[in-house]
Order: sequence, then structure tokens, then C-alpha cells
Amino acid sequence: MKIISLLNIKGGVAKTVSTVNIAAELGNSGKRVLVLDLDPQSNSTKYLDCYSHDNASMYELLRGEDNNYIKDTEYEGVFIVPANIRLILAEPEILSDTRKARETRLKKWVKTIDGQFDYVLIDCPPALGMLTTNALAASEYVLVPIKIDKFALDGFQYLLSSIEEAREEFNENLKFLGAFITMDKATNINKEIKSELRDALGTKFFNQTIRDNVEVVKSTFDSIPLAYCNPNANAAKDYKALVREIESCLI
Ligand SMILES: Nc1ncnc2c1ncn2[C@@H]1O[C@H](COP(=O)(O)OP(=O)(O)O)[C@@H](O)[C@H]1O
Ligand SMILES: [Mg+2]
Repeated sequence: MKIISLLNIKGGVAKTVSTVNIAAELGNSGKRVLVLDLDPQSNSTKYLDCYSHDNASMYELLRGEDNNYIKDTEYEGVFIVPANIRLILAEPEILSDTRKARETRLKKWVKTIDGQFDYVLIDCPPALGMLTTNALAASEYVLVPIKIDKFALDGFQYLLSSIEEAREEFNENLKFLGAFITMDKATNINKEIKSELRDALGTKFFNQTIRDNVEVVKSTFDSIPLAYCNPNANAAKDYKALVREIESCLI
């Protein structure tokens, strides 16, 4: 079971879009995939059309309440532990509850489902608080989507050192799987920044980028992953190729 956190401290870089479309593509190719929605905004839950206030959700999971958290989705091989707005309460509650370890709650639960899935993909919030720390403690890999803009690389070093810190503190198995570009455009700026990143990251920079594509926005509005609503869209083809590249790194 490969456990991968999709993480970037920035919002709007396509963590959620990537989590959902990578999950759908892996599911389509015969894998069993569990999405863990760790963002109180619940966007991957909504994208997979699983949002409900009544569900046993990530919030109850982190509180350690005994329940059936895993929900089936409409999509082949894709399952989810949904989030809802209650998750916003989880962070302060975890911080103030000193009876149980704070950082390893998700990790403990993930151990109970060991072997039931080929992949677990964790959609992280855009921050390095207790929710993200739980994701890093539970994961084996961190995958970082990057959207190129003026501030794209601000905080990137900090992100890498936070992964290193989590490795030292709670999870010696944690590895940086790599970074990939989302919403890619054929501009000179994009070319420059990609070549800078390639120099800095070497093999940890994925060749495949995800093109900027309005079909992605439509897919989120329809709550249907690209592989199902528009498999011929540029971004759908890109996610498919990215998944093959990710798989080849994980052998
Ligand atoms: N390849 C793409 N082309 C065009 N728009 C995209 C693409 N990927 C993501 N988006 C849009 O960017 C916005 C942010 O994506 P999202 O996955 O929610 O980011 P994050 O989870 O990092 O906050 C969304 O409105 C989404 O529709
Ligand atoms: Mg998101």
C-alpha cells in the first residue's frame, strides 16, 4: 500500500484537482485507491460528489471515534474518507487534547486498513499545521504540485525542510517523491522556471506537466473527474501520463 500526501503550503496550485484525477486514473487502470480528504474546505470530497454533513468523516476519524469512514465513489476503484466543515474543529481539538499523541492519529488509523488498497492519496490543506503533520506522519511519500507564478517558489525550501523535519521527528520512512508543474503554459517564464526546477531537483522533478486547460474547471463544476467527463482533454491525457511516470518511480 503506497501512501502519498499531495502537499504544497500554497492554495490554488491544484493539490485537490491532482489528488482526484490521479486517483481516478489509478482506479481506471485497475488499482484500488483511497482518497483521504484532510482539508476542511472538503474540495476533493465535493469533486468526488461525496459531501454530506451526516457522514462519518475525517473529523470523527481524527477524534478516534469508532466508525465506518470509507465511502465508495461513483468511480472505478476509488474510495474516500470524506471531509466536511466539522474538520475545521479538528485542529484546535487535537492540539488541546493531551491524552493521545497528536501527530500520529491518522497514521494509527491507516495501519488498520493496511493492505486493503494499492494507493492512499492524502489531499492536504494549504498549511503546515496539525492536519498536515498528521498527513506527513502517515505517509511514505510527498508529491508537490507547483503552479508557476511570481511567488511559485516562495516557501518551497521551507516545504522541503518541513518534510525533512517530519522525517526526523515522526516518520523515518517519509520520502520526497517529487514535484510537478500544474496549469502549465507555453510561455518563456514557464520554460525558465521549469529549467530552474529541473536543475535544482534533478530526478525529483517530473518530466510530465499538466497543461492549463479549461476542461479542468468544467470537470470540477460537474464534480466528475476528467477521465470520466472528458478523457480526451489535454489535462486528462497529462494526468494519465503523469500517473505512469509516478508509477515508474514507485517500482
Ligand atoms: N490544469 C488546470 N487547468 C486549468 N485550471 C486548473 C487546472 N488545475 C487546477 N485548476 C483550477 O485551479 C483552481 C485551484 O485548484 P485546486 O485543486 O482546488 O487547488 P488546491 O487544492 O491546491 O487549493 C481550481 O479552480 C481548479 O479548477
Ligand atoms: Mg485543495
